[in-house]
Formats: sequence, structure tokens, C-alpha cells
Amino acid sequence: MRIRIVGAGAMGRGIAQWAASAGHTVELGDVRAEAVTDAVESVVSMLDRAVAKGRMSAAGRDATVARLVPLADPWGAGPDVELVIEAVREDLETKAEVFGKLERALPSSAVFATNTSSLSVTRIAAALQDPSRLAGLHFFNPVPLMRIVEVVPGAATRPAIPALLTELVEGCGHRAVTVADTPGFLVNHAGRGLVTEALALLEESVAGPADIDRIARDVLGLRMGPFELMDLTGLDVTAAVIDSIWQGFRCEDRLRPSYLTPNRVVAGLHGRKTGQGWYAYGDGAEGPAPEPAVNGDGDRPVFLAASGSGETAPYVESLAGALEAAGVRVERGGGPSADALVLVPVWGTTVSGAIRAGGLPAERTVGVEVLPAAGR
Ligand SMILES: NC(=O)c1ccc[n+]([C@@H]2O[C@H](COP(=O)([O-])OP(=O)(O)OC[C@H]3O[C@@H](n4cnc5c(N)ncnc54)[C@H](O)[C@@H]3O)[C@@H](O)[C@H]2O)c1
Repeated sequence: MRIRIVGAGAMGRGIAQWAASAGHTVELGDVRAEAVTDAVESVVSMLDRAVAKGRMSAAGRDATVARLVPLADPWGAGPDVELVIEAVREDLETKAEVFGKLERALPSSAVFATNTSSLSVTRIAAALQDPSRLAGLHFFNPVPLMRIVEVVPGAATRPAIPALLTELVEGCGHRAVTVADTPGFLVNHAGRGLVTEALALLEESVAGPADIDRIARDVLGLRMGPFELMDLTGLDVTAAVIDSIWQGFRCEDRLRPSYLTPNRVVAGLHGRKTGQGWYAYGDGAEGPAPEPAVNGDGDRPVFLAASGSGETAPYVESLAGALEAAGVRVERGGGPSADALVLVPVWGTTVSGAIRAGGLPAERTVGVEVLPAAGR
């Protein structure tokens, strides 16, 4: 298939590498000529790495590079183009304008796909003379490694198009999932529980980015935490997605965008691509501060208080077992001795509430949250 990709940023170049590696001819265009040059260089260096690691032959790399066609003019004629994948910035007017120009340049048989993360596919298509030729094709970053792709038919999309896109995706070795044209589709809607909520935790000074990320990795078992993810995606993209999902669901409060993001976007703190986001990147950048070492008083006994909730009893017992296994002297019984550290499991209550309800010594009581589902 001959595919034209418009938008040679983080996503466009990843999609180009993925499709060209699978044998498709890929034209790559952008309003910024340097973006196309950078994209081709970046794809070549990724392929070189694959060759160095023995995952691709040198001949395979050369053939893939030969299938990449940099375009000086993204709106140039393309009589053989069968599919366009648009990956320009997340803005409805920009995308509508891009497709308008492509509609004039390319044959009416060419199928149009948008990589929008959160805009309405139906609304992007509505700007076309033929809205039935467009669907969403939503990749994840980095495209060659993230093997799931959302196929999103708009309200007017021809029924044959989702099937064609699914065949393309699966033929290139990724998994296609057809989802409805709702704000954020499936993955980014679900992702609000992680990213929007992490920003709310930061707003409320519950913890800083490094701690929230560490907990997401250690406790939720994620490969990266929400702030690391925002730095990878780019805060400019993430903020546009957050806004558009919020507006799409008619300003539902649970999806409310954080006041922390707009200034950071304007200041260019977008993450890896600008060298500075929630973390610093590049030569000499210091990583996040390591978790402080625990240097408590090892001989101090620990009294485990009841939380008042019967549901926590089994977890209190397993916590006691874990502490004893670690060599801690655990006190049981009516109340803590004079120097014992008091731990109280909190579940649906605040630590202050548990202290008051249990008559516990506030100056040496610490709440612990039991996480049965995480087995922790
Ligand atoms: N970054 C991610 O993790 C991610 C994941 C899935 C989908 N997306 C979506 O992919 C799209 C692109 O995101 P990105 O992260 O690659 O952004 P990016 O900023 O890295 O790249 C966007 C590119 O589009 C070009 N561009 C802007 N206006 C243009 C126009 N009018 N005509 C042609 N080119 C134009 C820019 O020059 C730039 O090179 C967005 O819709 C975004 O929501 C991003």
C-alpha cells in the first residue's frame, strides 16, 4: 500500500517506521521541512539500532529506508496514494484544514485516517466534501513498541473502512480494536483515572511527581508513572487531550483539567521533546531524587491498632506477620506501651479520625493503607 503520513513529529515518524518496516511505501510530509529531515534521521537511527541488536538484517534496514519517501510538499499530487494518516497537532481547525487540502490533492479513492487522541472523528470528517472516507486510527507512543491501535469509525464512515484499517494494522503486526467515537475513545478516557487524578494529587499537595510515579510503578505495577508518561507523550499533547475530553463530556467535574498545566505548556515544559518537563532530560540532567533511606529506630516496638473496621482485620494480621518477619517487635493487646510506634490501618477514614476514634497517641501514630487488591 502507498501511505501518505502528514505530520512528522513524534507520532508521524513512529507510524512511518512501523508501516515501512512492514513493507508499505510511506510518503512523509510536514509544514516544517526540518521535521521531515529529522523524522527520516530518527527512523534510520532506530533501524540501525535494530540491526545492531540483531533484530533486523542490514538488507532489511536498507529496503525499509528505501520505502520512505520524504515530501517537500505535503499537499502535492499523489495519484497512487491509497491511505493518508494524519498526525498533526491536536487541534480541530488544523486537522480540518489539512484534510481539506489533501482532499483537493489526492484521488477520491484515498482513505483518510486521523491519529487524533481525543477530538471527535465525526467532527473532523464533517469538514470534508466526502465525510464517509475518514476514520480514526489511534496509535500509541512509541508506535513500533505499543502494539495496540484503536480503529474509530465516525458517524458517517463507510463500513468498509474500519475493516480495511483493521487489516492494515494486523498485517503490520499490531492489534486493532474498534471503539466508538466518544471523547478520548477507550484508552485515553480510561487514562484520565491515572493522569488527571495524578495532577489533582499534585494540586492538593498529597505528594510530588517522583513519589506519585514511584507509587504507580511499585504498587500499581505500571511500567511508568503518570508524570513520566506525560513527559513521554508531551504535556502540550496531554493538555490538549485533557481539555478535549473534558469538553467532550460536557465539563463533567471528574474530568476537570488541572490549573497546573496551561502555564507549563506556555513555558515549553513539554517533557522529553523540549528537554524539561516534570523531569529534566539530556546531558547532565539529574534524575529524580532517590527515595530517602529508612533510618528509623529499629528497637522501637510497634503497636498495631484496630481501625474499627472489621474488614481490615485480616490485613492487620498479615501486616503483623510481615513486620515480625522483618524482625520488628509487634505489641498486641489493649493499648500501646509508652514508647511504641502506633500503626493504624485506615480504610475509608482519615488518620486523625482513626486516632480520635481509638483514643490513640497522636504524636506517635501513623496511618497505613491496606491494599488488598495489590496484595500489599
Ligand atoms: N504524543 C503521543 O503520545 C500521541 C499518542 C497518540 C496520538 N497522538 C496524536 O498524534 C498527533 C500528533 O502528535 P505528536 O505527539 O506527534 O505531535 P508533535 O508535536 O510531535 O508533531 C506534530 C507535527 O505536526 C506538524 N504540523 C503542525 N501543523 C501542521 C499542518 N497544518 N500541516 C502539516 N503538519 C503540521 C508539526 O510541524 C509537527 O512536526 C496529535 O493529534 C496527538 O494528539 C499523540
